[in-house]
Amino acid sequence: MSCKVTFLPINQTVTATRGDSILEVALAHDIPLHHACGGYCACTTCQVRVKEGAQNLSAIEEEEKERLERADEVGPTSRLGCQARVMGDVVVEMVNTD
Ligand code: FES
Repeated sequence: MSCKVTFLPINQTVTATRGDSILEVALAHDIPLHHACGGYCACTTCQVRVKEGAQNLSAIEEEEKERLERADEVGPTSRLGCQARVMGDVVVEMVNTD
């Protein structure tokens, strides 16, 4: 089953396979989502803010939560792109865009 993921601020919508992480979706479509640790929940550069469809992401797990608590610029809708898996349509805003 496929879903749609929209990345802000570049406003690019791509098709994703259900179960892929936001980072995997981004990399498959050449979207510049940072991933300094390579997707191992060890950096937070892949942080996104979920704008729509938070219920369509996999539940946050303890490791991701702890990592986010130590990150800068974290808000109530923050997720790590390498940990959050897409289960339906979502709109996310990338935090690190430079
Ligand atoms: S890529 Fe490092 S925590 Fe997600």
